[in-house]
Amino acid sequence: NDKDAQEEDINANHEWRYLMPMNYNKHSQKYYNFQFRQDDVIVMTHPKCGTTWMLEIVWLMKNKLDIKNATAVPQRVRCPMIEQDSFHSPGGTLDPAVTKALSGHRSKTDDIEGEEFLALSNLTTSPRTLKTHLPLCLLNPSLLNTSKVIYVARNPRDVCVSYYHHHRLIRALGFTGDFTKFVDFWCRDLLIQGPYWQHVGQGWEKHAHPNVHFVFYEDLKKNSMTELQKINKFLNTNLSEEELNVVKDFTNFDQMKIRKSINPMVKGKAIKAFKENEGQFLRKGTIGDWKNYFTPETEHKFQAWLDKWSHIKEKIPFTYE
Ligand code: A3P
Repeated sequence: NDKDAQEEDINANHEWRYLMPMNYNKHSQKYYNFQFRQDDVIVMTHPKCGTTWMLEIVWLMKNKLDIKNATAVPQRVRCPMIEQDSFHSPGGTLDPAVTKALSGHRSKTDDIEGEEFLALSNLTTSPRTLKTHLPLCLLNPSLLNTSKVIYVARNPRDVCVSYYHHHRLIRALGFTGDFTKFVDFWCRDLLIQGPYWQHVGQGWEKHAHPNVHFVFYEDLKKNSMTELQKINKFLNTNLSEEELNVVKDFTNFDQMKIRKSINPMVKGKAIKAFKENEGQFLRKGTIGDWKNYFTPETEHKFQAWLDKWSHIKEKIPFTYE
């Protein structure tokens, strides 16, 4: 009957409803019309799946192991985020003049001095390594015909723990609750950039596309060299075994954690966007930290959530447990 049909319709729509940050609606057309270039590489993830790690790997590979700039220039400048940086530009194209105008804004939040940012921002020219937390359907369909996309997924239990700390750390997110409260939000799919399974499901749907490379965080952690070789092949960067070893060492968690270009809180100096005493952006970088957080109660809730999404989860060959 009509009522059933209506409910079915609502459910169908709900399947593809994403929760976006507040300014998303205002700028969605610009994100959607963002102009990709042939030599762009886009690292696409649900937050906390290893975006920062993959960006560093890709940037280094694409920029011929430019350790000097990777050390001196903040990753945020080297690897612009489509939905954070493009909407300031009329064509959505990271125009240098717009980047220049942005420098003041950034210095307020990221502790990058205006002048320093200006000098560095030229590095956003091609070849670009771009970051996005938008799912595929919210970007222009021309993307996959134009550029390469590396999609990273991670055990959702670890993502949940990592996202919990992220929510406590980032001042603007204003979350002060405990992990139980956070799991409650997570399991009701009420966190921005989610629902997790829709994001990952969309990435996986395209995993066989020649311009898509799908990586699991756990594989990258356990078999770094094998995964780096695959990325090397996918990007046609032709790095030698020796060079890949340099990439591996330079992007190792302990190395990245102490680098100011990655971790703005190095040496305990907090930036304004982060709350103090809530840890660091690069937190632990391990597999299975969720075991230190889940209680029988939160585990029960999480399992019910996994069951709810099993139609997507079952399609994706996760190697975690
Ligand atoms: P944890 O909070 O579990 O430590 P994103 O970059 O998508 O926000 O993901 C952040 C997560 O990736 C954090 O997880 C962070 O510590 C981890 N991470 C960042 N760099 C890493 C690296 N080089 N090796 C392993 N994990 C890394």
